[in-house]
Amino acid sequence: MKVFFKTYGCQMNVSDTEIMSGILQQNGYELVSSLEGADVVILNTCVVRQKSQDKYHSTLGQLLKLKRQGKLKLIGIAGCGSNLEGQRLIESGADFVIGSRSVSEIANVLKRAIDGEKVVYLEDTICSVGSSTPRLRTSGHHAWVTIIHGCNRFCTYCVVPYTRGREKSRPMDDVLSEIARLVEMGVKEITFLGQNVDAYGKDLKNNISLAKLIEKASQFQNIERIWFLTSYPTDITDELIEVVANNPKAAKSFHIPVQSGSDRILRLMNRRYARDYYLSLVERIRSRVEGVSISSDIIVGFPTETEEDHLQTVDLVKRVKFERLNLAIYSPREGTVASKYFKDDVSRSEKIKRLNELLELQKEINKELNSKYLGASVEVIVEGITKDGLYYGRDIRNKIIVFRGSQISLGETVQVKISKITAGPLYGELQKKRGL
Ligand code: SAH
Ligand code: SF4
Ligand code: F3S
Repeated sequence: MKVFFKTYGCQMNVSDTEIMSGILQQNGYELVSSLEGADVVILNTCVVRQKSQDKYHSTLGQLLKLKRQGKLKLIGIAGCGSNLEGQRLIESGADFVIGSRSVSEIANVLKRAIDGEKVVYLEDTICSVGSSTPRLRTSGHHAWVTIIHGCNRFCTYCVVPYTRGREKSRPMDDVLSEIARLVEMGVKEITFLGQNVDAYGKDLKNNISLAKLIEKASQFQNIERIWFLTSYPTDITDELIEVVANNPKAAKSFHIPVQSGSDRILRLMNRRYARDYYLSLVERIRSRVEGVSISSDIIVGFPTETEEDHLQTVDLVKRVKFERLNLAIYSPREGTVASKYFKDDVSRSEKIKRLNELLELQKEINKELNSKYLGASVEVIVEGITKDGLYYGRDIRNKIIVFRGSQISLGETVQVKISKITAGPLYGELQKKRGL
């Protein structure tokens, strides 16, 4: 039986799809990379914004048509949408629903669905996912490694604590066993994942922390780069900053969502820091980690956000100069404090105006920061080939670099001299392959 996964949302979902695919493959299913010819389609869904939710509902509608035409046997829903909508998805036509903390049970759930049962399975079985759980990895040289599940923060706008549950760190030994297996498979780069990845270890004994995990992981000779995503501002410790500064394998990159530059809005969001704290954190990191890249997320048009609040955000963006900024328009989410108690009162046109203003500003900042790269020689781990036949990869600051070359394998480390900059990727010429 052929199974196709369509994955939405964040890297956690990408990682969960790899786990579910691995388990299904071990149970004799064939995993296919397109809808055509699939017997079962599983949508691994995201509900972080209304748009994300609408997207999988529209796909579900198209799949139901195919099913009626006899081109498809079963439709399953996994991921955060399952936890938010549960039984409702069965009423919308899905055959089975499996929660984001239930991925280990995918084979049982699918079996029951094949036997004709409509299944909604949302039990928390996340502790049974470990280093020995099979995973069907999509990349040969890079691996996503989830180290902490869930979130305890309850930002008032955010649905994630309701869909992913509370924070639960994986035992460090188990993470290290997973890395040992990855090394055997030829993996060179790993990204540690968590909604608040820097909260890793807070619920474990022996003072285990993300910093200690990075140190341990860097002892595997064949691991060349270690990334971590996403950091909550107040969970970043000096210990972590020191490890990033001093460990040559730690990527010089922090993704630290700020969400707003206005203290009043930050309070309404239940983000537990003020703008000054954030600004001094950035200073602390920059003074310790040479050439560090700092990126962020911002929500525009949060309830009651005034022009003045928005200007505070603009000011913060100008001061920090992020390497990358993900901007989102506030979207009320079912079940959250903000959707229950705060009126979504910033007009659509105002939200778009504020979004565009920040987009334009960020573009200028990107150009300015990227121009410093001109003429520089950087070490790139090759990730793939573009439509135009050029190679691309990243440097240790998470910059995407595109260059011409031949006979380079994915995962290879090369030296590239930057010759052209844009507000997006950088372009360069291949200087040498490692060891030549
Ligand atoms: N744990 C991370 C982010 C997780 S969600 C953190 O604390 O920052 C990813 C991003 O989606 C958030 O940073 C936020 O910018 C955006 N987001 C979350 N809920 C949203 C909502 N209701 N409306 C608009 N954007 C939202
Ligand atoms: Fe959502 Fe806030 Fe948790 Fe991030 S920290 S996942 S924004 S509740
Ligand atoms: Fe979306 Fe869930 Fe990730 S809501 S962003 S898939 S944690």
